[in-house]
Amino acid sequence: MPTIALSERPDAIAPHGGQLVNRIATPEQRQEFLDKADSLPRVKLDKRATSDLEMIAIGGFSPLTGFMEQADYESVVDKMRLANGLPWSIPITLSVEEAIAAPLKEGSLVRLDDDGGNFIGVLELTQKYSYDKTHEAIKVYRTDEDKHPGVKVVYDQGAINLAGPVWLLQREPHPQFPSYQIDPAASRALLKEKGWKTIVGFQTRNPIHRAHEYIIKCALEIVDGLFLHPLVGATKSDDIPAEVRMRCYEIMKDNYFPKDRVILAINPAAMRYAGPREAIFHALVRKNYGCTHFIVGRDHAGVGDYYGTYDAQYIFDEFEPGELGITPLKFEHAFFCEVTETMATSKTSPSTPEQRIHLSGTKVREMLRRGELPPPQFSRPLVAAELAKAMKEKS
Ligand code: ADX
Repeated sequence: MPTIALSERPDAIAPHGGQLVNRIATPEQRQEFLDKADSLPRVKLDKRATSDLEMIAIGGFSPLTGFMEQADYESVVDKMRLANGLPWSIPITLSVEEAIAAPLKEGSLVRLDDDGGNFIGVLELTQKYSYDKTHEAIKVYRTDEDKHPGVKVVYDQGAINLAGPVWLLQREPHPQFPSYQIDPAASRALLKEKGWKTIVGFQTRNPIHRAHEYIIKCALEIVDGLFLHPLVGATKSDDIPAEVRMRCYEIMKDNYFPKDRVILAINPAAMRYAGPREAIFHALVRKNYGCTHFIVGRDHAGVGDYYGTYDAQYIFDEFEPGELGITPLKFEHAFFCEVTETMATSKTSPSTPEQRIHLSGTKVREMLRRGELPPPQFSRPLVAAELAKAMKEKS
């Protein structure tokens, strides 16, 4: 398996597990797989499994080289660690119906197709196993309710996990955002070229509002650069589509940040909405992209009322200092303070709750639907205008 040796990047932060994984087939391997394409049993991947395959192949999920075997799966679900003890908080599994799993033989190669039927990868099937969905839901998502979008995915998926190392047939440019596809090996090279020693990663699945901007800028006061890393894989249907968000991120980068301190790149992973567990996962993925720090604000990766406002921060304390190899930068709920007329948190603002302007994503969507722009205390006007335009085009 080709890897990038740590010694080649002496001043970079180590990928999780020590080596950056590369599971993109070499031209020879690809030819070999293509020659076998029609004779291999096929499994169709949904959008999430497709992005998981991609993330494994490009090293975003290092040290994973494939879909998890049972020992890793159970250890991750129960202990937030791989079987070898390395921290890992989210199961990465390929789940199929029993009828699909039954004819597949352990030890054989399986052709992986995307949901359009295109041949995109190969799994060397080392194990198939059944698993307990409710247990996974409770441990990982802290709820067994199928109203939770992440739990619903688990309940709807097949009963058997197929495990083993994978290869991505070919790294294709992202269909929508090719210029922002900066994979971990490339981001590491870029960060090194920039000479940044400390880099903060920012995960987001929403258009950047002023609270986001505020916490990012607080972080930028103490680190060398920002790796603005929006998630563009599968999200729930009422989240703002990635193409609209990307235009907002570009507006933010071009108008409201110093150009030489920001890298905008896409994170092709799917959203799980697993709150605290996903915050750990998000941090480890950004470590693989080369970040030294990671922002965790209020209700990170949360949905509905499933998680406490700061649960995604507390969970970092369940690991020994330094064990994760990336430093979380934790921020309280930020808002516009009408007393000082600045962005602030309760740590810095003298305001009463009534003197604080903050809008939920749902409220903003409602306003946009009514044709109203979110106020400048909440959203930069250029971003608000872009959102309004997108809403108008949609309707
Ligand atoms: S998330 O699902 O990716 O976490 P979102 O894009 O809204 O959703 O959040 C990105 C990051 O900003 C997360 O770390 C989140 O905790 C943080 N965040 C969002 N809104 C606020 C806020 N008002 N105050 C502080 N942090 C926030």
